[in-house]
Parts: sequence; structure tokens; C-alpha cells
Amino acid sequence: MRYKIVSIVGARPQFIKLAPIYREFRNYKDIDHIVLHTGQHYDFLMSEVFFKYFKLPKPDINLSVGSGAHHSQTGEMIKKIGSKLEKIKPTIVIIYGDTNTTLAGALASVKLRIPIAHIESGLRSYIKYMPEEINRVVSDRLSDLLFVPSKTAIVNLEKEGISNVINTPERFRDSVAPYVIECGDLMYDILKAVLRNIKSDEHIVLDKYGLRKGDYVLATVHRAENTDNMENLSNIFSALNEIGKEYNVVLPIHPRTIKILRKIDGEKSYTNIIIIPPVSYNEMLIMEKNSRLILTDSGGVQKEAFWLGIPCITVRDRTEWIETVKAGFNFLTGANREKIIETFNRVIRDFSPNLRLKNIYGSGNSAKTVARYIWKYLKYR
Ligand code: UD1
Ligand code: UDP
Repeated sequence: MRYKIVSIVGARPQFIKLAPIYREFRNYKDIDHIVLHTGQHYDFLMSEVFFKYFKLPKPDINLSVGSGAHHSQTGEMIKKIGSKLEKIKPTIVIIYGDTNTTLAGALASVKLRIPIAHIESGLRSYIKYMPEEINRVVSDRLSDLLFVPSKTAIVNLEKEGISNVINTPERFRDSVAPYVIECGDLMYDILKAVLRNIKSDEHIVLDKYGLRKGDYVLATVHRAENTDNMENLSNIFSALNEIGKEYNVVLPIHPRTIKILRKIDGEKSYTNIIIIPPVSYNEMLIMEKNSRLILTDSGGVQKEAFWLGIPCITVRDRTEWIETVKAGFNFLTGANREKIIETFNRVIRDFSPNLRLKNIYGSGNSAKTVARYIWKYLKYR
């Protein structure tokens, strides 16, 4: 018996999460793994660069959906994913994270009665209208295998009545879906693998951007709540500009953010911030690892700061990665200029995380667990 798995991806962090899963499924000779790219992200530096770096084959299908309002982008994706899945007839579909691609993948699949495995399930901000929250809640509700990165995610799902937590694939035989499986965080798998190989490139990357180890702040900003709210955006950039008087501040900028910043002449006003185009994954890890502090609103970057032991300021009021805050690695400031600057000064002076809480998102073997459970699930069905 051969099985067909379709991974549905479309945005930057999904290409990164796909890498360890793709590699792992190569070990399963009875599985054909098909990659469907929705085209949500399409710039070379937001998409292809990751396929190249991780040596992933070109996606089998690219729907080229592109950008648009949530309803039209998601609608377009559902339509196009649906017609591809109808032809492919996959045994199971894998969706990743919380983007519009994730939601569209879930809806298109469930309508065709195709089982869904959701990776990075169970995360909640409890901010109802946050786009990612809508995507997560609906995707989780529609999924059959819910792969969660943490205990918090298990509790979140239990609150919504999704409580069949299994710790051996044998449970596929005697209980019914949805199944909740704690597998750690896939992004830790890839971080660990890449960290082993970047040593020799570190000085090249730092020199390229004129940075010195331990002497600069790395920032990223792309979350809608910050970019689409002018007050928030200028608060964050103004705080970074202030910090930039003393430290180099480097900001690989998301296309969403640069477009808005250009409209308000931001590039000219914030002269203490080194704004650069998005960077490849290995360059990003090097820049994170060697920074004095990271400031971000990205989910992935918060976790990477935690794994690398770099203090992180998260310019949001809440985070789904609450364990990093509890462990003393991550500091929530919202988009409040004064609070950002005050927190920055405090953390630079006195950063004392709880090092005992290092392994809360697994040990970097997530892809192995995911693949094994999916394969067993297909066998037992
Ligand atoms: C999306 C996800 C977000 C995730 C982020 C990862 C949703 C609702 N949001 O946000 O959860 O954290 O990806 O980076 O799915 N653009 C380009 N080139 C590109 C891609 C985007 O210019 O290759 C610009 C377009 O103007 C577009 C805007 O960025 O309208 C936003 O892109 P979109 O994919 O809608 O949302 P993200 O902010 O990237
Ligand atoms: N990243 C990258 N280049 C960049 C910015 C981010 O490779 O210029 C990586 C980052 O290291 C992390 C992932 O992209 O692995 C996070 O993606 P993003 O911030 O776009 O989305 P989120 O995690 O918030 O959904």
C-alpha cells in the first residue's frame, strides 16, 4: 500500500517548518510526499531562498495566489487547493502554523473528507480578531491529528473540548479522532541542525552587515496589529531609533512593513536603524545568535531567541509562547515606546533567565515523532 501526503505551505515560517518534515518522510519508502505552495509569499527572499537553502525540491504545485484581503486571499486558496486535492486524492494533508494558507488548507481538505494533521496546534492568544487566532481555532477544530509543541497547548485544547491526548500510536486503534500528540517544536529541529553548520559563516555574515558579536540589537516587525496601526508602528520604530543612538540596530524588514514605512516616509526618519531586506534562514540564525538582544513581534523569532539564550523583547501585549516569558527570556512591552526603552535598559543591565526551563518545547526530535505518528495513523485507518 502506498500513501500520498500533501504538505500545504505558503508563508515563510511554513517553508522552514517543512524542511525537517520533508527530510524525515524521505525515510518512509511507502509514502509519496507532495508539496503544495499556495503562493501566499512569493518574493525570492520570502520563499525560494528557503527552498534553496534547505535543498527542498521545487514545490510540486504552486497556486500563485499572491497577496490580497483576507477573505479574497483565503477564498481563492480554498478554491484552488480544493481542485488540486480532488485530483491528487491524498491519504492525509499536513497543515502548518496559523496563516491564511493553514486555514484554507484545512477547509479545502475537510470538505473533501481528507484527514488533516495540524502541526503547531493548540496555540492561543485569546485575541479573537487576531487573524492568526481565527486561523488556529478553526484549523484545530477541523483537524484529526493535532501536533502540539507544549503542555500549554494541551491545556488550551482541553478547554475547547479537544482532549484525547495520546502518547503512543497504538491509541489510534482504540480511540477516535481528534488525537492530540505532544511532539515538541519543529523549529527546534531545524535550528539545531543548522547551528551545527554555520560556524564558519558567522564572521562573513556579521562583516557583511557591519556588526560585531554581542554589540547590536536585531529587530523584526511584521504583525498586523503593529504594521496596520500607525501609532504602534511609529512607537516601535521610534523606540528602536532611540536605542540605535547607543547600539547598532539591524532590522531585516518584512515586505509588509517596508511598504507601509515607505508610505509614511519612515525610512528617512529612522536614521539610527539599519534596515535591510529579509535575510535567508542561516543568516538570520547567525544574526540572532550573535546579537545582544532581539526585539520582535514574530512567533518564530521569539522561540529562536529562547533556544539561543538571547533576551527578547516582544512588542505585543500577549504571546502564544508564554513559557518563554515565564522562563525569563522574553519580555512583553506591547507597542509602547517608553516601555520598550525602559525594558531594554533593564534587560541589558540585568538578564537572569531561569536556565532550568530550557527544554519546554521538546528536544529537537519533533519531525521524527510527527512522521512516525502520521505513518502509523495511515496504517491503522
Ligand atoms: C503572514 C501570516 C502571519 C505570519 C507571516 C509570516 C496570515 C494572516 N498572516 O503575514 O501569520 O506571521 O505571514 O511572515 O496569513 N508581501 C510581499 N511579498 C511577499 C509576501 C507579502 O510584498 O512575498 C506583502 C504584500 O503587500 C502583502 C503583505 O506583504 O499584502 C502581507 O502579506 P500576507 O501574506 O498577507 O501577510 P503577512 O504579513 O506576510
Ligand atoms: N526569518 C528569516 N529571515 C528574516 C526574518 C525571519 O529567515 O529576514 C525566519 C526566522 O528566523 C524564523 C521565521 O523566519 O525562523 C519566522 O518567520 P516570521 O517572523 O515571518 O513569521 P512568524 O514566525 O511570526 O509566523
